[in-house]
Amino acid sequence: MGKGEKIFMQKNRVKKAVIPVAGFGTRLFPATKVVKKELFPIIDGDGRAKPVILAIIEEAISAGITEVGIVVQPDDKEIFQNLLKTPPKKELFAKLSPHNQEYSRYLQDLGSKVTLLFQEDQLGYGHAVFCAKDWVQNEPFLLMLGDHIYASNSEKSCASQVLDVYEQVNQNVVSLTTMSAEMLYKAGCVTGVWQLNSILKVTQLYEKPTIEYAQRHLHVEGMPENEFLCMFGLYLLTPKIFDFLAENINQNFRERGEFQLTSCLERLRQEEGMAGYVVQGKCFDIGLPDAYRQTIIDFTSAF
Ligand code: UTP
Repeated sequence: MGKGEKIFMQKNRVKKAVIPVAGFGTRLFPATKVVKKELFPIIDGDGRAKPVILAIIEEAISAGITEVGIVVQPDDKEIFQNLLKTPPKKELFAKLSPHNQEYSRYLQDLGSKVTLLFQEDQLGYGHAVFCAKDWVQNEPFLLMLGDHIYASNSEKSCASQVLDVYEQVNQNVVSLTTMSAEMLYKAGCVTGVWQLNSILKVTQLYEKPTIEYAQRHLHVEGMPENEFLCMFGLYLLTPKIFDFLAENINQNFRERGEFQLTSCLERLRQEEGMAGYVVQGKCFDIGLPDAYRQTIIDFTSAF
């Protein structure tokens, strides 16, 4: 490997991931009055019961991320600290199976890679991302939703695939999945032009379009008429995103009462360009009762 090549690879390697988990989770009320949705249990492919956030952290770490910033409500500090930073009491540890004792040690190691960040007021997803600005500093980072978990269809995990695309294109990347027209009311939608390497040059992002708008403006060449490309929940972003979020926050520009991410992603795209990548894998939502029930059933057998 030549010297220049090595420098390029180092420059391009993404170290940090941000996971906002400070929302109220109103769609899962009243369960979320006492348990954060990001702490709801799921059963993983090994048959282990674990809180959703652990599956997300594991997805990041297994893709080569070395530092994870979790944006929490100040009141939730203790519970996340307890999960990620505090070893089980001796009496509990002694009662665990050898397998779970080993997992407990691994959990401590995982926790050492996590930094808790704070969102004082719940002003929206975009605002929560902004709360990670000082921690991220001037680096590209992987942004992961706190209420989605992933299962890959290929030998590479979903997050690894997104990181690989970033290394290839050296540009903002939004992960994508296909969705039928009747699901668009709850999705962030994307359109663009295919490049030679099956990567989409994104030409527009649009939050929750009507079917009519999508049919008129968001159709992507080669896709069936009633299918569209929507955001999958993993983003590889440059720190420029914080400038646009700061602008919206300073000008108190809210959408549906909150500081949103998508309009800032659209500005980021206009300024720096953005690649869209259709992930080989499945995304499981846990943010709604029906979706959570289905995730519990499907996630465990997805591997
Ligand atoms: P959602 O859009 O699902 O919002 O957030 P929510 O508040 O969690 O849930 P509902 O819509 O009221 O049911 C997407 C991600 O952003 C985080 C959430 O925790 C979730 O992981 N979030 C959202 C924050 O961290 N802070 C916020 O102010 C809003």
